[in-house]
Amino acid sequence: MSEDTLQIEVNGQTLQARKGQMLIEVTDAAGVTVPRFCYHDKLSIAANCRMCLVDVEKMPKPVPACATPVMDGMVVRTASERALDAQQAVMAFLLINHPLDCPVCDEGGECDLQDTALGYGQTGSSYRESKRTVVSKSIGPLIATEMTRCIHCTRCIRFGEEIGGIQEMGGTGRGEQVRIGTYVGKSIDSEISGNMIDLCPVGALTSKPFRFTARSWELTRDPSIAVHDPIGSNLEVHSLLGEVKRVVPRENDAINEIWLSDRDRFSYLGLTADDRLLTPQIKENGDWRVASWDEALQVAAEKIKSLVNNRGAEEIATLAGPSQSNEDYFLLQQLVRGLGSKNIDHRLRQGDFSGSLGAGAHANPQAINTLQACDMVVLVGSNLRKDQPLLWVRVRNALRDRDVKLVVINPQDYDLTLTPDHAFIGSPDQMSVDLAAVIKSMPDSAGIVIDGWQESLTEDLHRQAAELISNAQFPCVVIGNQAFASDNYSLLRDLASLLAEKATCNLIELSFGANSHGAWQAGAVPHRGPGQSAVNEVGLNAQQMFDKSLAGYLLLGVEPEHDSWNSGAALQALQQAESVVVLNAFATDAMRDYADVLLPIAPFTEHSGSMVNLLGQRQDYRANVKPKGAARPAWKVLRVLADQLNIDGCDYEDLQQLSAAF
Ligand code: SF4
Ligand code: FES
Repeated sequence: MSEDTLQIEVNGQTLQARKGQMLIEVTDAAGVTVPRFCYHDKLSIAANCRMCLVDVEKMPKPVPACATPVMDGMVVRTASERALDAQQAVMAFLLINHPLDCPVCDEGGECDLQDTALGYGQTGSSYRESKRTVVSKSIGPLIATEMTRCIHCTRCIRFGEEIGGIQEMGGTGRGEQVRIGTYVGKSIDSEISGNMIDLCPVGALTSKPFRFTARSWELTRDPSIAVHDPIGSNLEVHSLLGEVKRVVPRENDAINEIWLSDRDRFSYLGLTADDRLLTPQIKENGDWRVASWDEALQVAAEKIKSLVNNRGAEEIATLAGPSQSNEDYFLLQQLVRGLGSKNIDHRLRQGDFSGSLGAGAHANPQAINTLQACDMVVLVGSNLRKDQPLLWVRVRNALRDRDVKLVVINPQDYDLTLTPDHAFIGSPDQMSVDLAAVIKSMPDSAGIVIDGWQESLTEDLHRQAAELISNAQFPCVVIGNQAFASDNYSLLRDLASLLAEKATCNLIELSFGANSHGAWQAGAVPHRGPGQSAVNEVGLNAQQMFDKSLAGYLLLGVEPEHDSWNSGAALQALQQAESVVVLNAFATDAMRDYADVLLPIAPFTEHSGSMVNLLGQRQDYRANVKPKGAARPAWKVLRVLADQLNIDGCDYEDLQQLSAAF
């Protein structure tokens, strides 16, 4: 037994513990039940609810298990008469002011207070006075408040301070007058605010969009994967009678812990948006009409055939969004290459392709561990907090354990909720100048040659930043979405890589969408086939496809007028095209203007597939509900389209066969 290992006895059972652990951590690990409200293993200890009182031998009165460090030889009873008396007394005290409105509370059925009251509550109350009531205020469109139910556990406050990075909730008043809320009536703006709903142990904070739409026990709960950022957060889709009612996080400590960003939690609301495309449609004489799948696919196939025959396959551009499934990308590139076209890409937001021929999707299996363990982060062109909120949470986790230094080289002064130690804010061109100046100020950088570099560009701030980076024990460099979308991305990427090399650290490359790694692996780029194999002839990249204004466009899960680096050029090219065939879950006004055929595809809750995340992990997901209207999984639509176009190698019988081919 090491010096740090202690032995304690809990309910007659001998347990090993580490020095410094709290009693509740040891009992939790051993599966011993201790009731609690304020304690949460992802938050600091507040010890304010007293629900976790336990009986410790030689202690004059029960002690809170969440705030009592273990001691060698400690004898603990969690369910002795003294412990139970204390727990029941606290429960009775907490219920004095609780409205007990479970029948009309959205938390009912999944409420910690309700569950704990079942075990520790009494059948009646001796309290005869009036209950306290608290007026609830609106704190924004996502979280509904019913503050009379609040038990002042402060989990929401600690979440804001420790995880979210902004103290949006707080407490005022004392005793019975304590009020929890936002300061001076502000709304909640955190990009991960929905997690407070999960943390609240009562129905004080509930989901506003979900409110009164279903009871929790009626819901079917299916696992799935988030589609908004490259980490592939694990989530659960809750549905009732074929309708998605809400989305909540699914615990995966290696990826999203227990958190979910608001965009992944609440974007399910778009599934029933007015512009949802639910029927195949074709344009005739400038007017849209609903068509059967057979007819719409036939028209789409004819348009594509006509382009190939009359204009040549090289006049067809194929563009996909960065969050389609691996199977969709694989089949799409089979179809396009089967037509004889080489023009396929998913990188619509990339601003510069000059160095991309040799580049691939750089999965980084250590990305999350690195951010959690680092003591220095260099952000290059990244608003990490908003773009990849759960990666930013990892940096905040690191901050709880150690002093993490931050250097940012950004095109805007983003509100990161942390004050950087050094911030270089300038135009996209200036980012590369600052990055080069920091590299040239690193020790042993004399031999490094950077084109166009002049010593006069280096200032004291660059030298100080370089010193900070070189003194760090565990630095990391993150190149983010703003760099990706800048018109000198290739240079920034090379420089970021050089800095990582000089600092002997990990370079974390972030991308748009949830599955650009899968798109690369499937060959949805103009210069790589499946498995990133070489291609005989390189096609046009996304930017070139719009700049050259081709005759025909095949779009999959993308709205180029919104999703492109140069949306003006994209829209113009699409409007001038001879034919545009769109496979999408939504139809925008612009799309109705430029498209000729609209084929409705199923969004992620309505089809099965797989994606590859930033860590390089392939994650499968299954359809949670049936496709709405006539929508169909994109791979099925592509498969039939390929059949109509007589393209070989696309006749997969089912998703399993297709997944295996990918
Ligand atoms: S609102 Fe909920 S999480 Fe916040 S203090 Fe009250 S009970 Fe705790
Ligand atoms: S859980 Fe220990 S005091 Fe609240």
